[in-house]
Amino acid sequence: MVMISFSRSASTRLAWILALLIIVVMMIQVRAQNPPGFINIDCGWKNSSAYLDNTLKIQYSFDGGFVEGGQNHEISPEFIAGANDDQQKTLRSFPDGSRNCYTLPSNSSSKYLLRAMFTYGNYDRLNKSMDGSLFLFGLHIGVNFWEAVNLSNWDPSVTVFKEVLTVVPSNSLSVCLINFGSGIPFISSLELRPLQDTMYPFVNTSVSVSYFKRIRFGNNTDPITRYPVDDYDRFWESWTSTSYPFINLNTANNVGSLPGNDFNVPSAILQQASTVDANYSRFSINVASGYNKDALSLQLLPIFHFTEINGSTPNRRFDIYSRGEGLFPGFSPSLLRVDSMYKSGQFLQKGDTLFTLNKTSSSSLPPLINAFEVYSLVRMENLTTDSDDVKYMKEVKTHYNLARTSWNGDPCSPRDYSWEGLTCDYSKSNQNPRIVTINLSSSGLGGGFAISFMNMTSLENLDLSHNNLTGAIPDYQLKSLKVLDLSNNKLDGPIPDSILQRVQDGLLDLRLQGNPVCSNSKDAYCSDNKKRNTTPTLLIAVIVPLVLISLVVGMFILWKLYWKGKSGDNEDYAMYEEETPLHIDIRRFTYAELKLITNNFQSIVGKGGFGIVYHGTLENGDEVAVKVLMETSIDESTDFLPEVQTLTKVHHKNLVTLQGYCQNKKCLALVYDFMPRGNLQQILRGGDIYSLDWEQRLHIALDSAQGLEYLHESCTPSIVHRDVKTANILLDKNLVGVISDFGLSRAFNDAHTHISTVAAGTLGYLDPEYHATFQLTVKTDVYSFGIVLLEIITGQPPVFNDPHTVHLPNWVRQKIAKGSIHDVIDKRLLDQYDASSLESVIDLAMNCVENAAIDRPSMTEVVSRLKVWLPVSSSKQSTSGTPRRKYSMDADIPKQFQLMVSGVSGVSNESSSFQSGYTGGLTEISTFSGR
Ligand SMILES: *[C@@H]1O[C@H](CO)[C@@H](O)[C@H](O)[C@H]1NC(C)=O
Ligand SMILES: *[C@@H]1O[C@H](CO)[C@@H](O)[C@H](O)[C@H]1NC(C)=O
Ligand SMILES: *[C@@H]1O[C@H](CO)[C@@H](O)[C@H](O)[C@H]1NC(C)=O
Ligand SMILES: *[C@@H]1O[C@H](CO)[C@@H](O)[C@H](O)[C@H]1NC(C)=O
Ligand SMILES: *[C@@H]1O[C@H](CO)[C@@H](O)[C@H](O)[C@H]1NC(C)=O
Ligand SMILES: *[C@@H]1O[C@H](CO)[C@@H](O)[C@H](O)[C@H]1NC(C)=O
Repeated sequence: MVMISFSRSASTRLAWILALLIIVVMMIQVRAQNPPGFINIDCGWKNSSAYLDNTLKIQYSFDGGFVEGGQNHEISPEFIAGANDDQQKTLRSFPDGSRNCYTLPSNSSSKYLLRAMFTYGNYDRLNKSMDGSLFLFGLHIGVNFWEAVNLSNWDPSVTVFKEVLTVVPSNSLSVCLINFGSGIPFISSLELRPLQDTMYPFVNTSVSVSYFKRIRFGNNTDPITRYPVDDYDRFWESWTSTSYPFINLNTANNVGSLPGNDFNVPSAILQQASTVDANYSRFSINVASGYNKDALSLQLLPIFHFTEINGSTPNRRFDIYSRGEGLFPGFSPSLLRVDSMYKSGQFLQKGDTLFTLNKTSSSSLPPLINAFEVYSLVRMENLTTDSDDVKYMKEVKTHYNLARTSWNGDPCSPRDYSWEGLTCDYSKSNQNPRIVTINLSSSGLGGGFAISFMNMTSLENLDLSHNNLTGAIPDYQLKSLKVLDLSNNKLDGPIPDSILQRVQDGLLDLRLQGNPVCSNSKDAYCSDNKKRNTTPTLLIAVIVPLVLISLVVGMFILWKLYWKGKSGDNEDYAMYEEETPLHIDIRRFTYAELKLITNNFQSIVGKGGFGIVYHGTLENGDEVAVKVLMETSIDESTDFLPEVQTLTKVHHKNLVTLQGYCQNKKCLALVYDFMPRGNLQQILRGGDIYSLDWEQRLHIALDSAQGLEYLHESCTPSIVHRDVKTANILLDKNLVGVISDFGLSRAFNDAHTHISTVAAGTLGYLDPEYHATFQLTVKTDVYSFGIVLLEIITGQPPVFNDPHTVHLPNWVRQKIAKGSIHDVIDKRLLDQYDASSLESVIDLAMNCVENAAIDRPSMTEVVSRLKVWLPVSSSKQSTSGTPRRKYSMDADIPKQFQLMVSGVSGVSNESSSFQSGYTGGLTEISTFSGR
């Protein structure tokens, strides 16, 4: 639970109190200062001298020096007495700015636990958490989104805490509060605890984890165990469930760790455990967390801590499941030594929060558990600004005493919160952003020119005009500066030769007009016009505007004339057409043309993460699918054209053909060949009418495999699709499989190592190794293809209920283990298949879904293994697309097609056959599905 309610009930006996007092006095004497590395901040506390927390015996200090801006508040008097601790009595709120950061000192590359606590306590007397409105703000850890703090409908006296385990990239750690526009962010306390670098080995620079649950078992009176029992001050909640007759065990013996145990669970916690009555063979732990977290949207990682503390050497063995899925089979705890069971880097995909421990048949005792932890994945995908740039920017900020609300946290990252007046270069995707432009014009700067500017090696454009700068430009070797605007300041010193030299060489555009140094100078950089011109200023002032105005008027008239006959409606979006397209061989459509060919975007044939797909007919009668991309689905529209360029170079009969594109301010669209049979997913799930026979299935599998093989092996650089799934395999009228949506995956250079910064893929098709390492390789596609192959064989979706949620490969594995391989085959085949090929194809599919990428075959191998099972005649493929299949479905084409093209906007009550093949992207919402 996220709630804390420390009950500090008075202790019972006088002796106890006396004993405690003595200990306390000793502790205060011994522990004059905090444990090394602990940082304890009581946000909003006004007194600059630190105080000793009575319970923890550690010192808390005020937050001055860690944060700028914000306001101090005290919670409302009615909640003061019941506050959990002194830190919860005050808070700092941030009514200004969209991001406000605390910056804490830390060691670069070290691992930390950071905890933030929030007690609203109706400090503003507005009753925000109970007035029915949304009260929500976000947290960033460094430059990445960590979690939201949701206090809507929240008891104002209850504390929310958030904890993250993270590796700090530099020598400071920032925690930022993000204003979502749903209430003023605030914070009550912040605690930083250093961890050992070996602890929680799955936490690294690209993966942090956020606390979801940490529980200890046994008979405990404290609802939360923390420091000093736990050296790292983790919060361990006591398990309180009463749904089983739990039996508590404990031992006075010390519990050791097995070599390589990376969690340092305190011995005091391991000395206790819970088991169940011997009449039970299993128990479940449900950790669904209630309303401050939404488990379904999270990827969770459980860690179980076990040790046998029941005297002798009992026979205890059990299986551990998450929902229906086996996590650790046949586990037996070691005597007085802790085993910590977790799958490194493998996060559970569905936010599963129900874990079951089930006695094996050979075991004589029921399961036992001592403690466990559950974390959710926090991706650290955004990079911090280059550390030198940060250092120099901070120096500039201090030098000029600049207090700007946005100048808080990292200067460039994340992009949406970059500092006002800076332009950053994010173009090198695996490198830290760099600062290229600084605009501090009219910022009231006084004093000398800050040397730090001169040291920024990527700075190209510096604008310090209209300030009160005095003195001279320092004599520094400039690194990369191209424009230096110092106009209208009070600079009077000499201009260094090194700078004059660069000006003369044409490497630097220097502007100094309006400075005392220019009073007697006729130099170009002292003149208002950069290129000194002999033309009288008056003439320029009159003629230039005149010429410009007539030009504009002329162009307007021409443009009017041009469009008069061309477009019937008045919305001339074409005026937004950009002037300079890249050189791309395929057709470039205007928005007006797209409107025409899609009949005013009348018939939607699909909808997905990237945008909506419309049916269209070209002038020559060819049918096309027009995928209109949502602008937000592409990082920057500048990524779009290079992407299109890649696409036009890819030609293969099993890859969907790009006919054209549209790019301007009004639209971003791709025009593909239309695939009348829709996608493989609909056909596999679409009921009995369109059932494919075994041979057709093998053909489609081979087609898709060949398309992927081409992307992997024949393209330079190789293209990893990243989102292979049945919804992305389209079928032409002859049931030839054609892969789509590969264009929106990115081309990359090295086929074997590539750190991906973007999560890709669809639930159920995700390569577990990719998720552990974030190393994207062609084998990621092989994994997803394996899932596709299993779907083709079984007709089952990748994840389904039987009766518990099960992942398709596990389901098949279970069937195979039971020796009933023929149970997996799709019932719609009515036993019409070749049994020997079935076994080989299952074998191949299971090979593709091996956990380790290295064990999976290449697509080339997949293609050759599939070819073995296709009759020679039909595997002779004809490039012209001549029919080669049996067409049990021919009669249905006109009908289905009819429905698809007339399935016009708003009609949502039709059957799922309306879903087209062009779903694309990560979501599978379809306006036409009845679900
Ligand atoms: C700050 O705290 C110190 C020690 O607790 C105390 O002596 C002092 O009076 C406090 N100052 C203010 C302004 O409250
Ligand atoms: C990274 O930055 C982008 C752009 O600001 C943002 O949309 C995205 O959510 C960030 N990612 C994380 C994990 O915070
Ligand atoms: C827990 O321990 C206390 C004594 O410390 C005992 O009175 C109580 O019955 C125990 N409860 C359980 C459920 O074992
Ligand atoms: C628990 O194990 C028994 C065999 O010991 C097995 O029959 C039963 O199906 C298992 N229960 C679950 C939920 O897996
Ligand atoms: C420069 O300083 C003077 C006096 O200190 C002040 O009046 C003026 O506004 C300043 N100008 C700018 C541009 O900051
Ligand atoms: C700028 O860089 C030089 C070395 O290139 C260094 O000596 C100097 O201290 C730096 N200046 C600042 C202000 O950091």
